[in-house]
Amino acid sequence: MSKNKTKISIDTKELVKDFTLPGGEIVNVLTGVEMKIKKGEFIAIMGPSGSGKSTLLNILSTLESITEGEVFVAGIDLSETSYKENLDIRRTKTSVVFQNFALIPYLTAIENVKLPMKLRKIPELEAEKRAISYLESVGLYARLDHLPEELSGGEQQRVAIARALAHDPAIIYADEPTGNLDTNSGSEIIELFKKLTTKEKITIIMVTHDTECAKEADKIFILQKGKIVQEHTLATSKKSKKEGKK
Ligand SMILES: Nc1ncnc2c1ncn2[C@@H]1O[C@H](COP(=O)(O)OP(=O)(O)O)[C@@H](O)[C@H]1O
Ligand SMILES: [Mg+2]
Repeated sequence: MSKNKTKISIDTKELVKDFTLPGGEIVNVLTGVEMKIKKGEFIAIMGPSGSGKSTLLNILSTLESITEGEVFVAGIDLSETSYKENLDIRRTKTSVVFQNFALIPYLTAIENVKLPMKLRKIPELEAEKRAISYLESVGLYARLDHLPEELSGGEQQRVAIARALAHDPAIIYADEPTGNLDTNSGSEIIELFKKLTTKEKITIIMVTHDTECAKEADKIFILQKGKIVQEHTLATSKKSKKEGKK
């Protein structure tokens, strides 16, 4: 195994994010975030409401600009990218999974998954083939032609993950992906994330309030007042398991 091929997936230094309110008041939301995340790691971010978790994901996914500091995502310096380059990063390197699934209600499961590939001008036949295989990999082969409203919450989130895979992403950002799900469906999503990080080497960064979900990650970062104040590497993470096997 080429162990030295471990690549850094995300690297931030002194990341600061301020918002200016309409009245001119400046709100300091991120106050110096430092983090290094390796390729294929499964990271959970926890922290009180309002601590800046969603803002951090929005910056990493290029939806929000950086006020100060450095952010590298998949080797790209986000302070130097144009609007068009950001769009390209969002279509070909990263994907986002939301708490409310954000599926298009009038499109079937397979059509939802095909959509990002259509935007990338992937030929219909190939998009169809790939959509089927992504839906199969999330256990939804029997639900290809169902509309979102005909699926359970857990199934809808798995369609959203299949759609995320259609970007062929190096990184998936998930903002409270199990927040609207019961415990069982939530665990299925976490198992899927573990499989994607271990087998496909996708990096997953998940914001969660659920300690049980967070414990399944490789590391937990605690965000407080716009800074990462603690980082826990979990003993049960796949890396320690792998090393134990050798
Ligand atoms: N576009 C914005 N303009 C002004 N303030 C914002 C904006 N987005 C977020 N905030 C503020 O930033 C803080 C952190 O928000 P957020 O990142 O959503 O926190 P979390 O996801 O941890 O609950 C909150 O106080 C929120 O009101
Ligand atoms: Mg949030």
